[in-house]
Amino acid sequence: MAPKNILVTGGAGYIGSHTVLQLLQEGFRVVALDNLDNSSFIAIKRAAELAGDAEKNLSFQKVDLRDKEALSKVFDTIKFDAVIHFAGLKAVGESVQKPLLYYNNNLVGTITLLEVMNAHGCKNLVFSSSATVYGWPKQVPCTEEFPLSAANPYGRTKLIIEEMCRDIQKSDSEWKIILLRYFNPIGAHPSGYIGEDPRGIPNNLMPFIQQVAVGRKAELMVFGNDYNTKDGTGVRDYIHVVDLADGHISALEKLFSDQNIGCEVYNLGTGKGTSVLEMVSAFEKASGKSIPLVMCTRRPGDAEIVYASTDKADRELKWRAKHGIEEMCRDQWNWASKNPWGYGFPESES
Ligand code: NAD
Ligand code: WQD
Repeated sequence: MAPKNILVTGGAGYIGSHTVLQLLQEGFRVVALDNLDNSSFIAIKRAAELAGDAEKNLSFQKVDLRDKEALSKVFDTIKFDAVIHFAGLKAVGESVQKPLLYYNNNLVGTITLLEVMNAHGCKNLVFSSSATVYGWPKQVPCTEEFPLSAANPYGRTKLIIEEMCRDIQKSDSEWKIILLRYFNPIGAHPSGYIGEDPRGIPNNLMPFIQQVAVGRKAELMVFGNDYNTKDGTGVRDYIHVVDLADGHISALEKLFSDQNIGCEVYNLGTGKGTSVLEMVSAFEKASGKSIPLVMCTRRPGDAEIVYASTDKADRELKWRAKHGIEEMCRDQWNWASKNPWGYGFPESES
């Protein structure tokens, strides 16, 4: 059987680059598309190198999803079997400051993509949603049936795109769509050659810990130690990015094998909750570095405890995360120590 052609939007990004590599290793032909607004072409080059011979099955297109003409040209040249749609802006705080930027990039980008896919008869989609759609869950673990809410414009773009996908599939049963709700992806490829390289001050816990460990930041601010949790700090479901990438292969297999999938949603998490202090201590163990802490007030909008129910993905996608916190921290440190400045060079930082 001829290899399937997959378009990966946001393919140069953190999760995208790991997924591109895994797709190549699984024998898919991949076009990675990215405007490089929040990523580096070096990530694509390195993913290609890691893929060995399969590198020949990868090409890159520097395109902004909102550029309909350029996007249509990509679809004119290749008949895609499916699209994995990662491209989007993801900084929660920035989305509160600049909601229009987020609505424009994430919504207009996705609408343009869906229109071009429709026009070219490509109706298989895997979309990056987020556990953020569960808001502050009333109970845990979060199952896919929980009520949905958005606490900020970023989260609202995820909710709106989920709803758009459900509407589109309802209107045209040729569409097959899988919405994947990621919990907290961390870690890096075990080679330490690709990983997460956030621009500016990191918003998320693990990239911040990493920057303290390599000396780019002096201390970690712990946002709240008065939660009703085991040690007072927030609890999340951290998932190794390689497991997450693997979940996309399982989702594609489901799309290609299940004619009646319709529009279905799956959590991708481990089902285990880890507190901020537990994560710090696991990282200190893996790296041998000490992470100075400052206890601070709660970060507005943060939930207390969020972790996934993994039953549905396990049952229907035959997927489950394999890596634990220790391996996540080991691979995060391997990437950090080999690439203390990510893909770039020291810049003036606050
Ligand atoms: P990332 O920023 O590393 O990757 C996103 C990529 O999309 C970047 O390379 C960026 O340059 C590109 N992009 C953005 N807008 C674009 C546009 N208009 N046209 C073309 N390219 C564009 O982020 P990531 O962590 O890899 O996240 C991937 C997806 O997963 C995002 O949709 C994000 O919202 C979602 N997600 C991420 C997390 C997380 O914690 N990392 C959690 C849940 C969901
Ligand atoms: C984890 C825990 C913080 C930083 C965010 C988005 C969500 C999703 C994943 C995309 C919390 C604490 C953090 C720091 C800290 N992204 N923390 N000091 O908040 O679960 O989710 O990323 O979809 O939409 O909201 O992840 O890594 O920011 O925080 O104490 O410097 O670490 O309070 O308890 P979060 P996070």
